[in-house]
Amino acid sequence: MKSDWIDVIARKDLGPGQSHFIEVGNNTIAVFNLDGEYFAVEDACSHDGSRMLSCGVEARFIVHGARIMCPRHGAEFCIRTGAALSPPAREALATYPVRVDNDQIQIQHQNKG
Ligand code: FES
Repeated sequence: MKSDWIDVIARKDLGPGQSHFIEVGNNTIAVFNLDGEYFAVEDACSHDGSRMLSCGVEARFIVHGARIMCPRHGAEFCIRTGAALSPPAREALATYPVRVDNDQIQIQHQNKG
């Protein structure tokens, strides 16, 4: 399996408390700026795969707690680790390494090719 660093957004365009989405293959990945640190999780609830942040329904994104809440049944996840913090979700969200290169925020994504 090969991994690539993929440009997501310019650092200046993702301020503290903001999130941004990128489609990579069949996955939607959400990238967050939490007080200057960047994190990326797959935007697919581990309860039943629903999109949480890019579904058009407002999900709660609590910056200081670094949590997101799925708008369907209320499961909460840690943005930093992907860990499930409350039921009905039990499994963590997939997370991705993030770096800044030449002022571009990038995520590392595994390719199956
Ligand atoms: S689909 Fe997210 S909590 Fe049920």
